[in-house]
Amino acid sequence: MSEKVVLTGIKPTGMPHLGNYIGALKPLIEQSHTQKTFMFIADLHALNTIHDAKQIKQHTYEIAGMLVALGLNLDNAVLFRQSDIDEIYKLNTFLMNVTPKGLMNRAHSYKASVDRNVANGLDVDAGVNMGLFTYPILMSADILLYNADIVPVGADQKQHVEFARDIAGYFNNIYGDTFKMPEPVIGEETGLIPGLDGRKMSKSYDNTIALFAPEKELKKKIMRIITDSKTPEEAKNPDESTIFQLYKHFATDAEIAEFAQMFRAGGMGYGTAKTILFDKVNSVLAGPRAEYERLMANTDEIEKILADGACKARVVAQETLGRVKRAMLG
Ligand code: ADP
Ligand code: TRP
Repeated sequence: MSEKVVLTGIKPTGMPHLGNYIGALKPLIEQSHTQKTFMFIADLHALNTIHDAKQIKQHTYEIAGMLVALGLNLDNAVLFRQSDIDEIYKLNTFLMNVTPKGLMNRAHSYKASVDRNVANGLDVDAGVNMGLFTYPILMSADILLYNADIVPVGADQKQHVEFARDIAGYFNNIYGDTFKMPEPVIGEETGLIPGLDGRKMSKSYDNTIALFAPEKELKKKIMRIITDSKTPEEAKNPDESTIFQLYKHFATDAEIAEFAQMFRAGGMGYGTAKTILFDKVNSVLAGPRAEYERLMANTDEIEKILADGACKARVVAQETLGRVKRAMLG
């Protein structure tokens, strides 16, 4: 097992889709079998957009329940809720004082809001709260509080990890060597999962299949995947088919080879191909889905797992915060 500290946060904003699962969650869960990882539900980061406590709590259970149901190794992964660790609010306050405002002005997500406002003839900061503006400072606090070496994130979060490095650098320059330098690790873009319409599966395109969609809905969605108009008899290129692209991530090598052959040979209609895809995805996800549903009906169990994780995370957080406080305040 590597000595490096891996850390990642997941924002509780709703049920992930198959693209999130294959691109982000499955690799993290696999990694938890060989690698110590801090993994937290970033509920404080959801606050700048969700102003409803019930919703945030429910989404927190969904993400935690989902990770556990999918087999996250809780011996290696410290799974906790961001807001349960008091040291995060404190480190956030400390880091505010070494972070130049100009750095925040350059953040992609803030700039995107400003651009949208300008395009709509509104005040530049219309609808921007300080939670959004200072989002990268809180995220830096997450990363630095747990001494993370490696931060696996989607490409959209890379800048935030770079900001964490910048902020750690400013701090270390002023107060001496206090923080480690984290490295972002970006998932392979080549693994992009197509959605129902063939474009990248994404919430923004409304073309997703929810990871734990009930069986009936899963079937309905898979049957709605858009295909070309080839007849059943015609030979088909599996690499151009959304059906095959999804199948690949759920089947064994032998099954993948056999399904590809069925595409190339001709004689298989898209309806049949979709039924094969549904049976495969459903057989892989049925067990975890049942466990997820059980956990969601017993949220005390999820709370207990998060409380155990918080106990472990707190030990590291307190040690780091002590160091920071001594450096800044004596
Ligand atoms: P969305 O596009 O639905 O808003 P996010 O941007 O929230 O998804 O993505 C969260 C994580 O899931 C990121 O790490 C990203 O790399 C991964 N991801 C999202 N969509 C896909 C996809 N279609 N294929 C592979 N990975 C994806
Ligand atoms: N900002 C990340 C997102 O929107 C979630 C997140 C919060 C995170 N804190 C983090 C990711 C620390 C990695 C490390 O997806």
